[in-house]
Amino acid sequence: MDGEKIIDESKQGLATMTIGLQQNTKKVYIESYGCQMNINDSEIVASILKGKGFNTTDDMKAADLILVNTCSIREKAEQTVRKRLEKYQSIKKINPKLKIGVMGCMAERLKAKFLEEEQMLDLVVGPDAYRDLPHLIEEVADGKEAVNVLLSKEETYADIAPVRLNSNGVTAFVSITRGCDNMCTFCVVPFTRGRERSRDPKSIIKEIQDLKDQNFKEVTLLGQNVDSYLWFGGGLKKDFDKASQEAQKNAVDFAQLLDMCATTFPEMRFRFSTSNPQDMKLDVLHSMAKHKNICKYIHLPVQSGSSSVLKRMNRQHTREEYIELIDNIRKILPGCALSHDIIAGFCGETEAEHKDTLSLMEYVKYDFGFMFAYSDRPGTPAHKNMADDVPHETKKRRLNEIIALQQKHSLLRMKKFIGQEVEVLIEGDSKKSNQYWKGRNSQNAMVVFPKTGHEKPGDFVQVKIEDCTSATLLGKVKSK
Ligand code: 5AD
Ligand code: SF4
Repeated sequence: MDGEKIIDESKQGLATMTIGLQQNTKKVYIESYGCQMNINDSEIVASILKGKGFNTTDDMKAADLILVNTCSIREKAEQTVRKRLEKYQSIKKINPKLKIGVMGCMAERLKAKFLEEEQMLDLVVGPDAYRDLPHLIEEVADGKEAVNVLLSKEETYADIAPVRLNSNGVTAFVSITRGCDNMCTFCVVPFTRGRERSRDPKSIIKEIQDLKDQNFKEVTLLGQNVDSYLWFGGGLKKDFDKASQEAQKNAVDFAQLLDMCATTFPEMRFRFSTSNPQDMKLDVLHSMAKHKNICKYIHLPVQSGSSSVLKRMNRQHTREEYIELIDNIRKILPGCALSHDIIAGFCGETEAEHKDTLSLMEYVKYDFGFMFAYSDRPGTPAHKNMADDVPHETKKRRLNEIIALQQKHSLLRMKKFIGQEVEVLIEGDSKKSNQYWKGRNSQNAMVVFPKTGHEKPGDFVQVKIEDCTSATLLGKVKSK
């Protein structure tokens, strides 16, 4: 996504995380829903609370505090969180001392209203207010209501070393920007995460160095819109023009940041997410081409293949401009994998416009895709100004057509690897069997292969691909 890329659309069920820290007396249980950014934010929250007396627990019944990091991107994501709140509230009936807090996008969207809606909720904290959590927890202990949903011009949590949650010890997320200035009409993110700001490259490099020292091998640079990264001494991106000439001259953009990361850490592998077509400059593609350790994979949401729908979505590019960017990627980065986000059934979408989406997919033949039925979000420009008029059944049918076509293309792309030798970073045991490793190649394809007894997680190995499904490559380690 531009921004809120959801990891997997079972995606709403998302990553549940718990952490174990020592020497503190209180216990917090943290659960995270939504995008990779939220997972990273929960790691920041764990770090803030670690310094304030909180151990973490994976047993919510043993917790003094339950925090749920929430997503508002689609209605279904919010429904999932409401169901979880019912579960926590049932625990509070047994343990009345338990405090329950909501963080993230739903907290920002619903603000103090959330406390009225959910009787047993104690604390509401928005994405830019996590430093205030220790104070808010004290307020709650004093029996007060605690709400902080202030959005910030500066906050990037640059100085906070995240506590890695549920980590495989091999791959980690590092946030580089927060917020989004794009104002796509369907999207709630600009309202819940505020205006765009970038993080000091020095603090990014320091965090990666810490990860390297802990033996991590891959970093995904995260932002709602990474291509829009611009460091000029701090503050909102939109205020760049007001910065001093000196600050403007010394500014660091995303292509330069990528170059800096890849050069400083030649033995680490880099990914990034999410790219926005209108902001992706050719310089970024050249940085990718220059460095072997920048993975050849771009998540490039298009949302629709129809220029008229793109216009209604306030996407700042046409179908033709997107195709031109794809052609440049193919030229500068041959073999680079591509994935998309697509929304089916946006306001006023006609059958012809839907067919434009299918034909764009045929043109690109994406390796992966994240596909959604349009969900009307209160507060967005689309909600205010357009009718959510595509019938539910039509949305569902169009979505199914998009999913079926993507599955065909995924299989086609995966089949191309058969017979090839690919470099894989081992992440851990495969889901189905501990006799097999799983890891990803540069193009982000999941690769599964039998253990030989000579490899371990964190190793880069050469794997000869022998077979595939539309989601997984199967192979054998090439003997040295
Ligand atoms: N309805 C459906 N999908 C949405 N997305 C964002 N807002 C909505 C919405 N209102 C999708 C976009 C985005 C991805 C993360 O979620 O495709 O890129
Ligand atoms: Fe992505 Fe557009 Fe939402 Fe920004 S407003 S997070 S670019 S979908």
